Amino acid sequence: MSERFDIFVSYSNANKDIVEKIVNTIKFYGVSCWFQLRDSKQHFVEEINQAINNSKDFVVFLSNESVSSIMVRNEISRAIYQLNRNPSYDIVPVVIEPLTEQNLEIINLFLGSLNWLYIEKYHDIESLVLAIFEQASIKLKIDEHLQSTYSTEKEVEKIRLKEQNKYLNAYALQHLEHIFPKYSSPTVLDIGCDTGENVLVRFEKCKFRFLMGIDKNAGAIEIANTRATENVEFFCCDVTSDDFFRQIFSHMQRHHILGFDIIHISAVLLHLGRVEELLKNLYMLLSPDGTLFIQDEDDGVNVVYPKSQYFDDCFYVWEHSNESGDRNTARKLPAMLRDAGFNKIDVLSSAITSVDFDGKYREELWDLYFNPDLWAADDASYFDNYEAYNLLPKVKERHEQMKADYMEGKYFIMLGMFFITATKSL
Ligand SMILES: C[S@@+](CC[C@H](N)C(=O)[O-])C[C@H]1O[C@@H](n2cnc3c(N)ncnc32)[C@H](O)[C@@H]1O
Repeated sequence: MSERFDIFVSYSNANKDIVEKIVNTIKFYGVSCWFQLRDSKQHFVEEINQAINNSKDFVVFLSNESVSSIMVRNEISRAIYQLNRNPSYDIVPVVIEPLTEQNLEIINLFLGSLNWLYIEKYHDIESLVLAIFEQASIKLKIDEHLQSTYSTEKEVEKIRLKEQNKYLNAYALQHLEHIFPKYSSPTVLDIGCDTGENVLVRFEKCKFRFLMGIDKNAGAIEIANTRATENVEFFCCDVTSDDFFRQIFSHMQRHHILGFDIIHISAVLLHLGRVEELLKNLYMLLSPDGTLFIQDEDDGVNVVYPKSQYFDDCFYVWEHSNESGDRNTARKLPAMLRDAGFNKIDVLSSAITSVDFDGKYREELWDLYFNPDLWAADDASYFDNYEAYNLLPKVKERHEQMKADYMEGKYFIMLGMFFITATKSL
């Protein structure tokens, strides 16, 4: 039997870049798409017709090029035929640029009776995609959406994360050393503690009454428990589950904790769905004068000088890795924190740079981010598109030379890593 899709994507190759971005966001929500690069030699009419028949809905991106394309017009005719046979079939026209009067007249003949979406009305791609889902009556599996496939179970990721933490702890400690002394004997919660190794290193010199660490990875928690002491407890818990609050509350009661003075969450939010929900729960778990400390990423702050295709390719690969999570998370947090009820939100610093460290640490910064052998990218399933997968050999080929140039000081690198605190009191 032929493969079935949620959405057939009809578009013109002239709009490939924007359409691909939208399609990637659609797929990110777990909705499947028939979306092929346009090559009439490869894709015969029969194959396309079959894909339209085998899709539940049809989204067409309208531009002056697509309206003039015979191929797109054929696809629209086929979709209308489907709609006539099956009233639950949805056709969603999305206008991605102003159409000329003539093109508008032509396309109105086909699609004039339908509701059109206009890209310019949406402030980002995610909002447009949610509107497409609404019009196509697509229901999302809320618990799964946006959650990345990230796991620390791969050996190569364990090594990379450990190295990354050696580097990032220096930044985090600058802030944590000011937060801990505010409390005489704080209770601390670490969300996404993994094996507990790093949080214990990070808090080594910080005094606390009780540290509770939670992670959804049972294997990691088993290792963490070998590090537990009478005032350190680790347990397995998925912070996105409906049960999260009840689970954590029962552990708090056992240890007579009314609220946490410090909640620490490092390199976790980018991998989660429903971050807003979690922040609301954390607000309730924080004591009245407690502090939430977040470390998270945002590639929007990345700067490299001088410009090189190598870095653009690396950033593209990260963006399209299924394990990288939402690499624009940090910029969204201040508004989300405010909506969750937090009052005093501070962005303490927002980047790590190659000039902050010398010698070995300088080299480590490179390896952590730009060494493709440490990306755990073993096969195509690591990526959400083939373009990223195809870039990998190219990146590997140039890696040694680029690293040598960087070590000679030819490149300045700044990467978006945010450290944010939020409290309940003003
Ligand atoms: C990149 S690691 C960061 C580990 C540690 N916080 C650090 O900074 O080294 C992300 C951790 O978050 C955990 N995690 C991801 N999703 C989670 C969820 N829904 N509930 C609890 N833990 C989760 C993963 O298992 C992993 O250990």
